[in-house]
Amino acid sequence: MKILAIGSGGQLGYDFVEQAEIAGHSVFGVDYPQINITDKISVDRCVNDINPDIIVNCAAFTAVDLCEEQPEEAFRVNAAACAALALTARETNALLIHFSTDYVFDGKASVPYTEQSRTNPQSVYGRSKLRGEEIIAENCPDYMIFRIAWLYGMHGNNFVKNIRKFADAAFKEGRPLKVVNDQFGTPTWTVSVCRQILSVLDKDDRGIFHCTSEGECSWFDFAKAVVTASGINVDVNPCTTEEFPRPAPRPAYSVLENARFKAMGVNIMPDWRSGFKEFISIENNRGGK
Ligand SMILES: NC(=O)c1ccc[n+]([C@@H]2O[C@H](COP(=O)([O-])OP(=O)(O)OC[C@H]3O[C@@H](n4cnc5c(N)ncnc54)[C@H](OP(=O)(O)O)[C@@H]3O)[C@@H](O)[C@H]2O)c1
Repeated sequence: MKILAIGSGGQLGYDFVEQAEIAGHSVFGVDYPQINITDKISVDRCVNDINPDIIVNCAAFTAVDLCEEQPEEAFRVNAAACAALALTARETNALLIHFSTDYVFDGKASVPYTEQSRTNPQSVYGRSKLRGEEIIAENCPDYMIFRIAWLYGMHGNNFVKNIRKFADAAFKEGRPLKVVNDQFGTPTWTVSVCRQILSVLDKDDRGIFHCTSEGECSWFDFAKAVVTASGINVDVNPCTTEEFPRPAPRPAYSVLENARFKAMGVNIMPDWRSGFKEFISIENNRGGK
């Protein structure tokens, strides 16, 4: 397949290009400013140059707290831009692959959310991403949207890198690291997402799919796993969300069930602990953090 991967400099996009090449596809990675997804002319120019079978959009405005301050920009990049992508995909008969988030849910559930669960985003980021989903569904019949969550990888900014930074600082200052223990989700490695998506490209199923690792934990549990795997000698103590107020509300419970993959018999997402173990092992093989 010929694939155009937009947002190839980001956390997911970088690994998608690498994994799609490993899988034998012909992949063209582009990112801002080479392409601006909010500008249909720019999207058209890029798509016409490459003429891909599949357009994979990894680009987004992902700074969740900043979205609260800049709602117009959040909606421009995460929602309105989806119209340009969807129309271009339809005009060129390309499959559009796009990513959404667990933040489309309110986090008030106590069992995992399936693709059928009612959405009710609580933040500007979540609302803008949900609108993006709707715009794609309205404008392009041939689409797959993968809702992912608690993403980490080797490239870009993420929880693993932040925890290492905070843990190093706490160690130097001789104090414990405090991490919230009342928000639950599933840490998901970028490469697991890429492998899962690449494995379903030959399927005819379309629409929204949940695509996270299996199992669940709190940020505190994940931080402990990160600190242990990174060999940082610091105590990690649990705390509440109230102790760490953030501009954008976070869902307290955002575990997603990959119900559609399971029904199709194609779910290859690993348990979050084994995904994280493989991430650490590959990171070590590549020369460390
Ligand atoms: N990270 C998570 O935990 C998480 C969780 C759930 C869902 N998601 C979703 O997963 C997808 C990938 O996230 P990620 O963490 O890989 O994001 P990321 O690291 O922030 O990468 C996003 C990329 O998009 C580019 N971009 C931003 N605005 C653009 C525009 N107007 N035109 C073209 N490119 C633009 C950025 O370029 P600049 O750096 O130059 O701005 C960046 O390279 C997104 O749809 C996100 O909403 C992420």
